[in-house]
Amino acid sequence: MKTIIEPFRIKVVEPIRITTVEERRSLLERAGWNLFAIHSEDVIIDLLTDSGTSAMSADQWGAVMRGDESYAGSPSYYRFETAVRELMQFRHVIPTHQGRAAEAILFSIVGGPGRIVPSNTHFDTTRGNIEATGARAVDLVVREAHDIDARHPFKGNIDLARLEQLLEESGDSVPLVMLTVTNNAGGGQPVSLANIRATAEIAHRHGKPLVIDGCRFAENAWFIKCREPGQESRPVPDIVRDMFSVADGMTMSAKKDAFANIGGWLATNDDKLAAEARNRLILTEGFPTYGGLAGRDLEAIAIGLHEIVDEQYLRYRVRTNEYIGEKLLSLGVPIVQPVGGHAVFVDARRFLPHIPPLEYPGQSLAVALYEAGGIRACEIGTVMFGRGPDGVEKAADMDLVRLAMPRRVSTQSHADYMIEVFEEVVRGKDELRGLRIVSQPPQLRHFTARFQPIS
Ligand code: F0G
Repeated sequence: MKTIIEPFRIKVVEPIRITTVEERRSLLERAGWNLFAIHSEDVIIDLLTDSGTSAMSADQWGAVMRGDESYAGSPSYYRFETAVRELMQFRHVIPTHQGRAAEAILFSIVGGPGRIVPSNTHFDTTRGNIEATGARAVDLVVREAHDIDARHPFKGNIDLARLEQLLEESGDSVPLVMLTVTNNAGGGQPVSLANIRATAEIAHRHGKPLVIDGCRFAENAWFIKCREPGQESRPVPDIVRDMFSVADGMTMSAKKDAFANIGGWLATNDDKLAAEARNRLILTEGFPTYGGLAGRDLEAIAIGLHEIVDEQYLRYRVRTNEYIGEKLLSLGVPIVQPVGGHAVFVDARRFLPHIPPLEYPGQSLAVALYEAGGIRACEIGTVMFGRGPDGVEKAADMDLVRLAMPRRVSTQSHADYMIEVFEEVVRGKDELRGLRIVSQPPQLRHFTARFQPIS
């Protein structure tokens, strides 16, 4: 059959409150035109993030009931550890309450002033946790990643020559090499198996461990299966095992590719690092067999890890995003190509060329999507990155709007509705205006800044 259906039935539903345009206009005004200040009950389709927003399965909810809440040695922990090890064979698996907690523990041990941590592209919490220790986070993604239209199959790859050069010149300062799969900050673009292996080879030749930020490992493995020569007939779990078999450790947010609403882990083959990490875990998260999670969360993750590598699910997941991407392109909406695993990224700067970057074209588009159809998306551009540590404003590299797709949450008609909302926005795009910021905090301003439309 040509039609790829949602490979699940719906047993539990959450009603969506359908608001009117007039209501949304006044909600926007009250929120200072910042979508983070909108209550989620006033959102029709929430595409702010794919993190922690998955629909859990009947099996996961069943397992939640089985969760054993013992402080030490809970069987839920051992089921979680076994499920992780089936895919990622690390000696030590240390649960954390979410991904950034794993990052904080790791970099509090291996970071510090003068240290340099290279990656394809660090996600912002990873960068934040590295920089908080005084170390420097360096992004070495391939050049194609910066070209929105370049249809390279693995735009998440790290530039191997620049990695080699960094390790030759400053190897003494590098505690480890990282790879983010898929590369969220670069548009959800995958890293090839060949690139993962070559990164490991270079790192190991210089005596450095490779640590994978594995948040979207299953989507990455699916892209490897679909796009990398010689991988097409291999089962996804085998590809996942190969991805991690050359790594020495990983950080993970189970809020993404584990279908969980909370959770994460730090894994490593290094006994000394693991011992130190567990000591810090006890201080900040909890005992090593629960690490900031309830036993029931560990159970949900264990089941989620089995479900996420299902090829019917991954085919439907990626195809849905491609479908939305194709329709947007046909409406003349420029997007990052090829479409990523977890999101469609719209190039708002190119879509709204009459709005200069310092009047925030990404914010203008995000506001327009909410006003027209109650869709909540996230600006990733000059609002998020446009203010330096000195407080001076400058245009970010790109002004994107991310439409992040929660897992198993919506149906084909939700996708068609999103496209219809874009049609409406396209019709009125020349009338869209920029915004100015009327109040903002000193850091991470995108969360709480208030705006005013420029008339
Ligand atoms: N690494 C990557 C690649 C991520 O995308 C995220 C979170 C984290 C680490 C941190 O994990 O949220 O569990 O602490 N990304 C979310 C997003 C917030 O919307 O992209 P966390």
